[in-house]
Amino acid sequence: MAAVLIDGKAVSASVRAQLKEEVQALREEGITPGLAVIIVGDDDASHRYVRNKKKGCEELGIYSQVHMLPKETRMEELLSLISTLNTDPLIDGILVQLPLPKGLDEKRVIEAIDPGKDVDAFSEVNVGRIMIGNYTFLPCTPAGIIELLRHANVEIEGKECVVIGRSNIVGKPMAMLLMHANATVTICHSRTKNLSEVTRRADILVAAIGKPKFVTADMVKPGAVVIDVGMNRDENGRLCGDVDFEAVREKAGAITPVPGGVGPMTITTLLKNTVTAAKLHHASR
Ligand code: GUN
Repeated sequence: MAAVLIDGKAVSASVRAQLKEEVQALREEGITPGLAVIIVGDDDASHRYVRNKKKGCEELGIYSQVHMLPKETRMEELLSLISTLNTDPLIDGILVQLPLPKGLDEKRVIEAIDPGKDVDAFSEVNVGRIMIGNYTFLPCTPAGIIELLRHANVEIEGKECVVIGRSNIVGKPMAMLLMHANATVTICHSRTKNLSEVTRRADILVAAIGKPKFVTADMVKPGAVVIDVGMNRDENGRLCGDVDFEAVREKAGAITPVPGGVGPMTITTLLKNTVTAAKLHHASR
């Protein structure tokens, strides 16, 4: 039997409808959450993500600014913009779209963002807080995935979860959130030996490798829940995930499609974090 499709668009729409009401109530109190997005260079995919973030803000009534900078932008200019936004009372969240063009130091840029406005939760302080389990902002993609699993009634506690990919943006924080939800977690990566043997143990398999159709049916346990974080182009230039969707859906119990799975949830978490930041800023003023 083919897997149940986990519909990220539908879950995202329901979470955003709730958030919209929350933003409306805040605005009636005179608090308008504000997000500043900085994008450097002209990478098409990054520009598409940023457009979706802006659109998400508009739909919810969140104020947004997009700062588009040329790829020749120097560190000092970028740091100076971040410093201005750090003290701008209209701005509750700051997001610098990654990856940055060569020559710009991502680590330094992330650390320049006020941790109270770091709605990506990428800074050292926020990552540390996630590790301890005492966080303000949840990392966008992993938190979106947890929300998807909850909405799909997938129990996490006690389950074998395997995450493929160890990036700071997805793999590592994903493992941490699954562990906070009482799963037994394994992180695999490019040097993992006998990868298929490990992935076949997974009740919940999260693919975040960035390689088109990397996860094949033989790597999946029958009935497993498969979460696809990938956003790639296949040999015909069509959008595809890290999972060979057509083959794996015949074996899995549930699966997220690409597009329409994890992607919309990432932006939903960002919007949620921006609202959280606005509430905190208002409470401390
Ligand atoms: N590039 C890919 N994913 C992300 C994300 O979640 N946040 C930022 N800032 N850049 C990204």
